[in-house]
Amino acid sequence: MKRIGMLTSGGDCQALNATMRGTVKGLQNLFGEVEIYGFIDGYKGLVYGNYKKLKPEDFSGLLAKGGTILGTSRMPFKEIDNPMPDGTEKVPAMKKTYKDLKLDALVVLGGNGSQKTAYRLSQEGLNVIGLPKTIDNDIYGTDYTFGFQSAIDVATHAIDCIYTTAESHSRIFVMEIMGHKVGWITLYAGIAGGADVILLPEMPYDIKKVYKAVEKRVKEKHFAIICVAEGAIPKDIAKLPKKERKAKLAESTYPSVAYEIADKMREKFDSDIRVAIPGHTQRGGAPDAYDRFISSRFGACAAELIKKRDFGKLVVLRNNEVVAIPMEESAGRLKYVDLDNQAIENAKTLGICFGD
Ligand code: F6P
Repeated sequence: MKRIGMLTSGGDCQALNATMRGTVKGLQNLFGEVEIYGFIDGYKGLVYGNYKKLKPEDFSGLLAKGGTILGTSRMPFKEIDNPMPDGTEKVPAMKKTYKDLKLDALVVLGGNGSQKTAYRLSQEGLNVIGLPKTIDNDIYGTDYTFGFQSAIDVATHAIDCIYTTAESHSRIFVMEIMGHKVGWITLYAGIAGGADVILLPEMPYDIKKVYKAVEKRVKEKHFAIICVAEGAIPKDIAKLPKKERKAKLAESTYPSVAYEIADKMREKFDSDIRVAIPGHTQRGGAPDAYDRFISSRFGACAAELIKKRDFGKLVVLRNNEVVAIPMEESAGRLKYVDLDNQAIENAKTLGICFGD
């Protein structure tokens, strides 16, 4: 009987359950009998040996269920060698739990930081497989992370809803889309929702260019939609050295970037200006069809890797093929929106302003 540990770590997303279901179905078909040790609330459960013993049937009916049946939490990698508040040393405790339970493998569904920890555990000798989770789509080495498409769908729907009310009231809306470090969701949803301006963390903006684009749009259509990623920054701040930049950003008294941009719009335009933030709805609800499709395939690949005892691997999507790469290829690197991305070029052809 194979004994497989599993955990979900970091911010949740729509297809965590679907991916676990895919993995367990694959394991059941490849091994016959399998016992799953589902750690509660991410790595915390592994540290404290807090788990649910699960059977394959416990994963039945989860394909379309959002969230995670195991619970999740954040355990930043930069603090991995700092003890827990009660003094427990994290890595030794995780290794002990793994050994005490006589696990054959540990499957980690997580984003960047969580995959760094997974890689560390693999270096410490545990049999680890990583699965690329995050709505942000920013894990290096994969074309796609599960959760991304569902988040785009939610954000696009939010833009659609704002579009009609913005048009009725002839208003300017600033919509804030998730993504502190990368702007993938904002880029995709912004284009899909027909935004007039898209502001990404990777492309610092010049507010004068944004004014110009909004002015043109308001003249033509009387309303405008600006989609801004959580981490978008103006050019003058972006060019400061890291320390000064951080200090400058920390000085802001706005609740978030959308409010700051809305205020800048108020300085320039007479129109009504409003802010709309879909926030965590972008991570909630059911996974869409594409996320279910790809999560099922990611899960199958994880099961195959365990069968082959091919550990220390991260499951990824490359050119529409689900494959596995060594964890060290991805760990510690972010996948930013590349500035020569064709989608940006296409969007500019459509007249969308990036403020650059
Ligand atoms: O990493 C996923 C993500 O949703 C980001 O897009 C967002 O910036 C962040 O998590 C929000 O984190 P929290 O759930 O801790 O508020």
